[in-house]
Amino acid sequence: MSVRRLAEESVQPTSFSFNRSNAAWAKRKIKDYPKGREASAVIPLLMRAQEQDGWVTKAAIEHIAEMLDMPLIRVLEVATFYTQFQLAPVGKRAHIQVCGTTPCMLRGAGDIMDVCKKRISPNPFEISEDGNMSWEEVECQGACVNAPMIMIFKDSYEDLSITQMEHIVDRFAAGKGDEITPGPQIDRIFSAPEGGLTSLTGKPVKVAARKSSAKLPAAAKTVVKKAAAKVAGKIGEIASKKTVKPAVTKKAAPAKPVAKKVTTKKVPAKSSGPERLKKPSGKADDLKLISGVGPKLEKTLNDLGFWHFSQLAKWKKADVAVVDDELSFKGRIERDDWIKQAKALAKKAK
Ligand code: FES
Repeated sequence: MSVRRLAEESVQPTSFSFNRSNAAWAKRKIKDYPKGREASAVIPLLMRAQEQDGWVTKAAIEHIAEMLDMPLIRVLEVATFYTQFQLAPVGKRAHIQVCGTTPCMLRGAGDIMDVCKKRISPNPFEISEDGNMSWEEVECQGACVNAPMIMIFKDSYEDLSITQMEHIVDRFAAGKGDEITPGPQIDRIFSAPEGGLTSLTGKPVKVAARKSSAKLPAAAKTVVKKAAAKVAGKIGEIASKKTVKPAVTKKAAPAKPVAKKVTTKKVPAKSSGPERLKKPSGKADDLKLISGVGPKLEKTLNDLGFWHFSQLAKWKKADVAVVDDELSFKGRIERDDWIKQAKALAKKAK
């Protein structure tokens, strides 16, 4: 693990400012936090500064400290602690962070680093001759089960072999990194076992529970019955609060009829939700232009019926909640401000 210091003065720019859209974004981001707790925006702001300039400059750190009214040393502490912040210029097309912690080392991280040494530069943090690539060793990235692994900007590439690593380096060096799908590079779903499931291979819980309840031992049946009764009671209680008129609320209305009322209550037919399309109208937009959307997420969005910036640009708060539920990255839409980005991209595309 290298010592993390700011880059030499000779490469530091003399000033920093967010561009117009990032400045507006930063202003909104700071408002996400309660008064007096604005300093909590330090990580998102540093990250946005890095996305804008490619690395976190000293001037950016000073600027952010000023924006958040924080002592400079506090912002320096954050920037120099987390390895996701680059403190010196890195490769334009990719900066590869190779995990070198024990599980990854035991599974071949040394070979992965050798590929970087051979294809990029013999030493970490040295930028390749064409200025496009650089690499470093970092500590555990939390994907140990998929060791060895690397991070490139916000994406991780896991279960690597020497050949796959060489392929990844080649693709990124050629500016075609988006051809590689992040995640495991072998036939495995996320961190599920290689070669398919070895546990939880039965039917889904809901179905299994209903069908197998007859086979439960008597004691277990009693527990299930009690739990069901408790839930029914709760439902009755909630229902009575919601539906019984004040004039007759001396005591809670009998659970049965009220509960019945609730179950027959009509739920608005399909959630109005965001507008979806079975297929793109004309050519699909490149949703990867939205910061925070990679090839994998773009595919998921397409599968969900979203193909165009104009669709995302129309999302309201309720739509965001619906899509948020469908994606496995809760909060990302708001955090990366997809709607604003989509509006700008839709305008540009016109
Ligand atoms: S040890 Fe490499 S991700 Fe944890």
